[in-house]
Amino acid sequence: MSVNFGRQTASGHLHVPSESKEPYPTDVLEQLSLEAEQVIARYPQPRSALLPLLHLVQSLDGYITGRGIDFCARTLDLTTAEVSGVATFYTQYKRHPNGEYTVGVCTNTLCAIMGGDQIWETVSEHLGIGHDETTEDGKITLERVECNAACDYAPVVMTNWEFFDNQTPDSTVQLVDDLRSGAPVAPTRGPSRVCSFKEVSRVLAGFTDGLADEGIGAGPASLRGVELAKREGWTAPGEESAASVDAQPSATADGPGGGLAAGQRTSVDTPANEPDERPGGQDAQEQAKEDDK
Ligand code: FES
Repeated sequence: MSVNFGRQTASGHLHVPSESKEPYPTDVLEQLSLEAEQVIARYPQPRSALLPLLHLVQSLDGYITGRGIDFCARTLDLTTAEVSGVATFYTQYKRHPNGEYTVGVCTNTLCAIMGGDQIWETVSEHLGIGHDETTEDGKITLERVECNAACDYAPVVMTNWEFFDNQTPDSTVQLVDDLRSGAPVAPTRGPSRVCSFKEVSRVLAGFTDGLADEGIGAGPASLRGVELAKREGWTAPGEESAASVDAQPSATADGPGGGLAAGQRTSVDTPANEPDERPGGQDAQEQAKEDDK
């Protein structure tokens, strides 16, 4: 199966390349089927195994191929449309050949104002590719990514979902150059090396590589709040206060002793919308019908 990297057209995000529908060789299909059985055995319903099976396809093909969609559909007794619907919903599933390393620059709010936007512009220009595009050598797929819950180390860059904390435009250019040349690259936290996209996809399919507990997870900045709470003796509400809340009379819309101010309502008191009810109540519905005419 030939692989074309490089720039993507808009339709490239929606349609898998026709050559990716070439069937798997018999020996590859046998091994894939054996591993799919192991994945499916973890779930009460076979169809629940779809997400890890899509990762398994990516671990083999490097993206969600047409033959991979066929395989998942046949294995899980789903339609190819159902499998495609899931594969196009989640951004971790790639609809065209992905690079060996997905480099994600966080440009969400905190990282952006801490320098993420400059990192993005510098690296995108350096590599000559935009979002979800891959260098011609197939090494780097560049992405703008949303918050990685690592704002305490902003601006953050991810490489195959490993953290590179407190980055700068220069350090990120060095990172992608090292990845392309094959120089050793170590994340700031976690394991001592970055696995390939295919290797990581296999882990996401549920086949461990033994690296999950390697290195530190939460660094000093992430633990500062916990240390401060320990020093000051602050604790979260414990069982005692939870029990006293349970012991209170049940809340009513305006009854005394329910823990609510007079006139306050709980969500329990609020009737749910009817399934086909338009928002805004009867008057708004009537108005909407008039507007529809
Ligand atoms: S905004 Fe970038 S990690 Fe949260």
